[in-house]
Amino acid sequence: MRAACGCVASLSASSPPKAGDPLMAATNVEVWQRGIVRESREIATGIRLIVLEQESPKRAAPGTHIDLWVSVDGEPVRRSYSVVSTSDDDRLLSLSVLLVPNSRGGSIAMHALNVGDEVRMTQPLQNFPLRVGATKYVLVAGGIGVTAIVNMARVLKSLNADYRVLYAGRTREAMAYLNELQELHGDRLEVFVDAENNFIPVEALVNSLDLNTELYMCGPIRLMDFVRRTWLASSLDYPNLRYETFGNSGWFDPEEFIVRVPSLGIETTVGAGRSMLEALEDAGAELMYDCRKGECGLCEVRILALEGTIDHRDVFYSEHQHDVAVKMSCCVSRAVTSATGSRADAPPGSALAVVTIEV
Ligand code: FES
Repeated sequence: MRAACGCVASLSASSPPKAGDPLMAATNVEVWQRGIVRESREIATGIRLIVLEQESPKRAAPGTHIDLWVSVDGEPVRRSYSVVSTSDDDRLLSLSVLLVPNSRGGSIAMHALNVGDEVRMTQPLQNFPLRVGATKYVLVAGGIGVTAIVNMARVLKSLNADYRVLYAGRTREAMAYLNELQELHGDRLEVFVDAENNFIPVEALVNSLDLNTELYMCGPIRLMDFVRRTWLASSLDYPNLRYETFGNSGWFDPEEFIVRVPSLGIETTVGAGRSMLEALEDAGAELMYDCRKGECGLCEVRILALEGTIDHRDVFYSEHQHDVAVKMSCCVSRAVTSATGSRADAPPGSALAVVTIEV
């Protein structure tokens, strides 16, 4: 699942929607278009604001993202980024991208974009719609996950809704949009900073909610997993918990590993900057997928053998299913060498992790 600049004009709020407003509807028809980079600048530690001009302008409702193609290791790869805001005329979309050197490489390519560069991008797509009409809302943002939350909070304020925003980050300098959120939301914003030993009290938060509250969250897998498990252990209704993942936030640093598919005669190496799904597609496998973010479960593969540990990065399977490691979401989950997930902790000279699967 967005921040501020000389282009703050591009962050202006949309006109307040009403319940049933079609802007809130899920729109997942992919319409590809040309985008031009109109602005790129750092707005927090390691985070760049990138403003794209749409060739065919379309309003970005809260929770929307765009997909675009970037080049990673010379290969075109598709990445998704939340839309933080649109200009009043819908022409400009603002994204914010965290540089993650050890990730799949999309962020490096995004940070290298210059003003005037062209990209191939979709119009805004919706996988994380904000439902208008709940009695209360809680928005939880962790790190760059705030990009999926900024616009929701803005719309809830414009609707005079009963809402809270909980925003957690490593340091204040690394928290994009912090000042803007504080200005706009005042006491409705609660800030949690790791460096200040101040963490979101997940259990107290979830256990304080009533059945009429909807919680929307976007953040690192550890935070989202904790919230999800706490929610499942409570008496709250599961449909009232809504979340969006980054698709590249794992328990361990990504490393190169080998995937084998005996039934297709495939053995290929998955680079640290690519997903297992992408590597299998490159090797000629035809796999089903939808979200490519570890949410829908459509890309499930069965694990036949494993040398190493699975770094489950999805939010589709239960904790038990992760523990038994019989299946994995190949769009986001990976294999790592050692039980700690760190190559440094792997036995000296150990080979790459190997996962043998059935598709
Ligand atoms: S494609 Fe949705 S979980 Fe992998």
